[in-house]
Amino acid sequence: MTEQDFILKTYNSNIENGSVKWASPSNIALVKYWGKKKHQIPENPSISFTLSDCKTITEITYTKKQEKGFSFDIYFEGEKHEAFKPKIQTFFERIEIYMPFLKDYHFKIETSNTFPHSSGIASSASGMSAIALCLMSIENKLSVNKSDSEASQDYFNQKASFLARLGSGSACRSIEGELVVWGKNESMVDSSDLYGVKFEGDVHANFNNYQDTILLVDKGEKQVSSTVGHQLMYGHPFAQERFGQAHVNLAKLKAILASGDLNEFIKIVESEALTLHAMMMTSMPYFILMKPNTLEIINKIWAFREKTDSKVCFTLDAGANVHVLYPENEKETVLEFIKKDLTKYCQNEHFICDQIGQGANQIQL
Ligand code: DP6
Repeated sequence: MTEQDFILKTYNSNIENGSVKWASPSNIALVKYWGKKKHQIPENPSISFTLSDCKTITEITYTKKQEKGFSFDIYFEGEKHEAFKPKIQTFFERIEIYMPFLKDYHFKIETSNTFPHSSGIASSASGMSAIALCLMSIENKLSVNKSDSEASQDYFNQKASFLARLGSGSACRSIEGELVVWGKNESMVDSSDLYGVKFEGDVHANFNNYQDTILLVDKGEKQVSSTVGHQLMYGHPFAQERFGQAHVNLAKLKAILASGDLNEFIKIVESEALTLHAMMMTSMPYFILMKPNTLEIINKIWAFREKTDSKVCFTLDAGANVHVLYPENEKETVLEFIKKDLTKYCQNEHFICDQIGQGANQIQL
């Protein structure tokens, strides 16, 4: 698929109005996306677990209007939210060529998250993918003379992911489950820089219902956004080495997912998390998003693993929170460990239990 294949050519603009609604999950990367080219093209491939319960639920109501131009309102948890407007405006500008009807309608976008607003969990992946899916459902209602390929579920998912990527890179990995790969790489033939694809390799039963407990170390606003962080990979002294490493790690992870070797899984996942933060610490300007409690938790996880036979491990996104990953058969013991030894490092002892999930769902109205 190329960008051209995603341009909607004809549509029926006689439809006056309607509503669509989607719930789309967050995702957590195992091999990290950090560094991008123009048009949100990643510098390296990444792979993530789709989450199950941390979701954004978005309803878009569209109403035909006379004058051309973008027109939309955003409501977040029932309240009009002007702060989200510039991001959506940029998103609409980027995707207009693929969805020319965007200028024909007024859109009322109503959105809410299943996780607490100020939890420090990035909602851009779930938020942007939910909007992209709603727009795809609208496109489906308006389109006429679709070719067989355009009418297929694969096309729907690919274009939704393609659009979501233009909103926020990692959002393209939130359409499907349980594992999604984004970024062209040799280990996966169908992979693309333009959209995420479902991981089609073998996945060992050890990864069934893999658990992710998110420890909310810091719920505040990050000092450096991901978008700025990505830019700092331009001219970064270790960038090329890092981008190469991501390809190698992805190939290794593919084999690990098939074999179910959790010791090797831990090595890749924890190394990826620390490498991501090492890139931040070695960029110019340099910055640190981990907090003292992030390190306390990491050390406690290592000590717990040393002492027990546990396969628990951690990963980090671009912030101080810790994602604690573990197999389902350790659910009880690890949760007990978290409650006893780790929640004291969380803001207000707050943590969220999630696990790997199946992807976004349309909600019938
Ligand atoms: C560290 O997708 O939030 O979570 O494309 O600028 O919106 P933009 O960035 P974003 O970056 C996420 C980076 C990460 C790693 C990952 O999810 O792969």
